[in-house]
Amino acid sequence: MLALRPEATAGVVRAYLEHQMYTKKKITRLYYSGPMFRYDRPQKGRYRQFYQIGAEIFGGDSPYFDAELIIIIDRILRQFKVKQYIFEMNSVGCDGCKVRYSSKLQEYLNQRQDGLCQDCQVRIKNNVLRVLDCKVVSCKQILENVPAIQEILCSVCKKHQEMLYQPLERNKVQFMENKYLVRGLDYYTMTVFELKINGGESAVAGGGRYNNLVAELGGPSIPAVGFAIGMDRLCNLVTPEIKRNIDIFVFFLGQNAMQNGITIINEVRSSGIRLITDYTERNLKNHLKVANREGAEHVLILGEDELSKQVFLYKNMKKGYQKQVEFEHLSNFLKGLKNAEDTYMR
Ligand code: HAM
Repeated sequence: MLALRPEATAGVVRAYLEHQMYTKKKITRLYYSGPMFRYDRPQKGRYRQFYQIGAEIFGGDSPYFDAELIIIIDRILRQFKVKQYIFEMNSVGCDGCKVRYSSKLQEYLNQRQDGLCQDCQVRIKNNVLRVLDCKVVSCKQILENVPAIQEILCSVCKKHQEMLYQPLERNKVQFMENKYLVRGLDYYTMTVFELKINGGESAVAGGGRYNNLVAELGGPSIPAVGFAIGMDRLCNLVTPEIKRNIDIFVFFLGQNAMQNGITIINEVRSSGIRLITDYTERNLKNHLKVANREGAEHVLILGEDELSKQVFLYKNMKKGYQKQVEFEHLSNFLKGLKNAEDTYMR
């Protein structure tokens, strides 16, 4: 049977087990990137094929592993110069906490069942935690006063959450607690988090701890934590930094200048400067007309006179000045033009 993977965590756990990585290292850090597929209703930022990059850490139950991953996401966002984002955090507790919280939630919701949407009425019985995630207005109203899981977390889960917040604060990661956050995947235990932009609904990244999944998939009991960033959503937030590769037009006057000039031009090209050459024979006036028509700002001219002096004539068509540039300084001169333009663009 073939299936399109909706996410990579389960597959990474399978690979971790198949290669018995737990026998080689106490802590294993893995990362991945690639396309994922979900039968979602397509809309802005929600696709049926999308790309994720993700990371998973196996073998550690310290909350500092959770913090390490959140700090990595934070660094990535800073590097991409994304602003106004916040990590929404919650704990869904360990098995014991989940059972206790689920029954408390069921008790609370059973008394208010009539106001819940059809789906949530079913969720109360099958997977009550997912009611917290419902976006239907009537359900949201009922959930306003719902007991928070923080009220019943066991001491281990509570301590885990408190210890996780300390390194986040110290690393100036913006986060807030969201008591409704349960995540759309059921394998999570304790920490869950999502990265939201500007109070928006959809998350750019999500993750959490899943201390039971390795055992559930047939392996030993090994704690794990991970995240995935949605690349499509991240790309939608990023404004590409445009570094223009400036166009420099080169014209030759006469065969002799052309033969000699081509060698110099190709040397300059190999240092990464983009030169546009035109080998058509014209007089200077017509060359400049062509340059004007093509909107060229920078023009280099090599005629017999220049060749004998071992210089190019540089003309700035926009600013209306010209100067002679010696062959040996041409590369540096053009790099200077490019850098000046990059600085101007910034
Ligand atoms: P997830 O929250 O389902 O988590 O997905 C992670 C990210 O993938 C989302 O925050 C979002 O940016 C992007 N994404 C999800 N669905 C779509 C979609 N239909 N169109 C565009 N982007 C989408 C996971 O997948 C977990 N495996 C993360 C994880 C790793 N938990 C532990 N380890």
